[in-house]
Amino acid sequence: MSSFKQEPHKLLVIPGPIEVADDVLYANAHPSMSHMSADFVPVLGDCLRMTRQVLYSTTAQPFIIAGSGTLGWDQVAANLVEPGESVLLLNSGYFGDSFTECLQAYGANVDEVRADFGTAADLDEVAKALSAKKYKLVAFTHVDTSTGVLSDAKAVAATVQRVSPDTLVVMDAVCSVASEDIRMDAWGLDVVLTASQKGLGTPPGLSILVASQKALKVFEARTRPVASYYASWKKWLPVMRAYEAGSAAYFATPPVNLIYAYHASLTQITRGAPSLEERFAAHRRASARIKDACAALGLRQLPRDPAYAANGMTAVYFPAGLAAPDVVPRLLQKDVVVAGGLHKDHKDKYFRIGHMGITVTHEERGDIDRIVAALRETFAEAEASKKA
Ligand SMILES: Cc1ncc(COP(=O)(O)O)c(C=O)c1O
Repeated sequence: MSSFKQEPHKLLVIPGPIEVADDVLYANAHPSMSHMSADFVPVLGDCLRMTRQVLYSTTAQPFIIAGSGTLGWDQVAANLVEPGESVLLLNSGYFGDSFTECLQAYGANVDEVRADFGTAADLDEVAKALSAKKYKLVAFTHVDTSTGVLSDAKAVAATVQRVSPDTLVVMDAVCSVASEDIRMDAWGLDVVLTASQKGLGTPPGLSILVASQKALKVFEARTRPVASYYASWKKWLPVMRAYEAGSAAYFATPPVNLIYAYHASLTQITRGAPSLEERFAAHRRASARIKDACAALGLRQLPRDPAYAANGMTAVYFPAGLAAPDVVPRLLQKDVVVAGGLHKDHKDKYFRIGHMGITVTHEERGDIDRIVAALRETFAEAEASKKA
C-alpha cells in the first residue's frame, strides 16, 4: 500500500461521480502497461470475475469497456434489439427518457409505461402491456438518479417471467450497483448495466454491463448485423472471454490504468471489509440518517413512498421560500458539493445528495456527519437571511 494521499478537496456528494479512495486513485497511476501483457491479463480477468460477484451471478457474462454508463444503453440497443422489434420501457424519470431515445436511435419500437413523478412504474400496468403485445425486452431504471426512486427490481423481473417468460429483463443500474442489493441470477435479470463512477467507487470512464446466458443466446440468434461497430458484442465477447481465460486479445485498446483502479476498488468491495451484505446495510443506514436529517429540517423527499427511495442518494424538495441559489452555494462554501434537480419538469424544486461508496463505508472519514452538519447550518443561514 502506498502512502499516496490525495489533495484536500471539497467533499463530492453528488449522485456520481463519488469520492474515490486513495488506493484506487493511486492504482490509476500505475506505470503505463501493454494491454496485451501477461501482467495485465489477470487484472482485467479478475475485474470480470469480481464484477460478476458484486451482482451475485455465477454464469453471466460481464463486458468492461471504455465509455460511460450511456454506452450500456447502446450495447443493449445495438446487440439485443433488431430494427422494428418492440421494447417496453418502464419510465421513472430523466434516464428512462434517455434510454428510450437511445433504443429508438437503433430502430427499436418503444412503448413506455410511465410512472408518475416520484413513483416507479405500476406493475399491473406492466403485466397488462406484456399480455397485450410481444416484447423483445423490458427495460427499466433501478434507481432513477433524477428522482431517487428505487424500482423493485425483483418484482419487475418476476412480473415479466410470469406474463412473458421469453422477454428479456434489462436493468439500468448505473446508480445502484454496489449501493443496492442486486441478485442477478436469483431474480432472473438478463442485463445489468452500470458505470464505474458511482457505487463502484472508481473514476468515470468504464461502461460495465453484465449479460445473462439467455441474453447472449438472444444476441447469437439475431438475424441482422449489429448496427454499431464499437458497441458490438461480436467484437467484445471474444476479448472478454480471452482475458477471463488468461490470455490477451485485441479489439480496441482498453483503458488500462482505469482498469487497475477498478481492480483496486473491486478488491475492496468483494474481498475487504465490510462484506457485500454489510455494504448494502451500511448504505441503508447512511441513507436513513441523511433522510431523517432532511425530514427534521422540513425537507420532503421526492419519492412518494419511502419504501421506494434509493439508499445511495437522496432527493428532497426545497422548503417554501427557498430555492437552489439559497442552498447549493452555501453548501459549497462549507466544502460540500451536492447536485441540483435534473428532472425536466421539476428541476428547480429540489436538490440531490449522493451517499455511496467510501462516504458510507469508511465511517472514520465522517462524511455523513459532515453532510448533516452542513445541511443544518445551511438551512439555518438561508432561513435567517430571508427573515433579515
Ligand atoms: C440511472 C442512470 N443511467 C444512465 C446514466 C448515464 O451514465 P453516464 O453519465 O456515465 O453516461 C446515468 C448517469 O448519471 C444514470 O444515473
